[in-house]
Amino acid sequence: MTIKKVLVIGAGTMGGGIAQLCAQQGVDVVISDISQDLADKAKSRIESSLAKRLEKGKITAEEKEAVLCRIVTAGDLSAAKAADIVIECVIEDLEIKKKVFSELDKLARPEVILATNTTSLSISAMAAATSRPDQVVQMHFFNPPQIMKLVEIMPGQKTSRETLDAAEAFAKQLGKDPVVCKNEAPAGIVSRILGQLLNEATWMVASGVAEPADVDKAMKLGANHPMGPLQLIDMIGLDIHRAKMETLYTTLDDPRYKHPKLLDEMIAAGNLGMKSGKGFYEYGDK
Ligand SMILES: NC(=O)c1ccc[n+]([C@@H]2O[C@H](COP(=O)([O-])OP(=O)(O)OC[C@H]3O[C@@H](n4cnc5c(N)ncnc54)[C@H](O)[C@@H]3O)[C@@H](O)[C@H]2O)c1
Repeated sequence: MTIKKVLVIGAGTMGGGIAQLCAQQGVDVVISDISQDLADKAKSRIESSLAKRLEKGKITAEEKEAVLCRIVTAGDLSAAKAADIVIECVIEDLEIKKKVFSELDKLARPEVILATNTTSLSISAMAAATSRPDQVVQMHFFNPPQIMKLVEIMPGQKTSRETLDAAEAFAKQLGKDPVVCKNEAPAGIVSRILGQLLNEATWMVASGVAEPADVDKAMKLGANHPMGPLQLIDMIGLDIHRAKMETLYTTLDDPRYKHPKLLDEMIAAGNLGMKSGKGFYEYGDK
């Protein structure tokens, strides 16, 4: 089935990017958040991103307008009634996500798939908050979703084969090249492997081995990584990175995933990375 209408919930870094991706691929999308204002701000950010693409000659003014016309904003979940698929992108907090899934279950048509973009929380726990656990699935996009080619698709314990196939088909409809995991495991493939690498980089700084810029320089020049691990954490958000490490640490009961106190101190000071204007690096105005 070709998806025509998507509801994206959570108008932050990922929700905004996924909404832009959907609209760029010709799919109508509603982006919703806890307030109309937050959703509108996400649409303004998409407009700025499209303006840059226009400046670079990657799209025409008509294409920019067509993409923007496909994006509607909302301050509640009522658009779930008309959606062909829902992609949840709210903050990485299981209780909040479970509440969103329970509300969605009441609003969305019975056949509609409810997907989560969680990094590392339990898909089965979110599915259990609904009456359709066979239709709940992880569709994990990568940052920035309009550019990164991969979508990791992962089942919960009760997810059906049909749901996995439909999620894979939708990822392909959006121009992505998905990987489908066989079983549920926290943080999927990329985030679990990469999480450890990023975590190790924070320990390097915390234990005074090297400055952030030198850790990043070393990984770029010595391992040929396109960007440094600490630059990447700033892009992901320190809070999002920490939430993932905490889930891995507790669910896999493995000390390799423990994060340093430095990360807690930076987050407590409001230094969340690019989105707050400061993380391991300074970004000036947000
Ligand atoms: N940042 C990344 O690089 C990245 C990559 C892949 C997956 N993820 C995952 O995607 C999800 C979102 O991450 P993000 O980086 O976009 O976070 P973010 O903090 O940028 O945005 C989260 C948004 O959710 C909204 N929100 C909170 N509670 C809500 C509710 N009850 N209803 C509607 N909206 C609500 C917030 O107002 C905020 O706008 C998380 O689960 C995260 O783990 C993040």
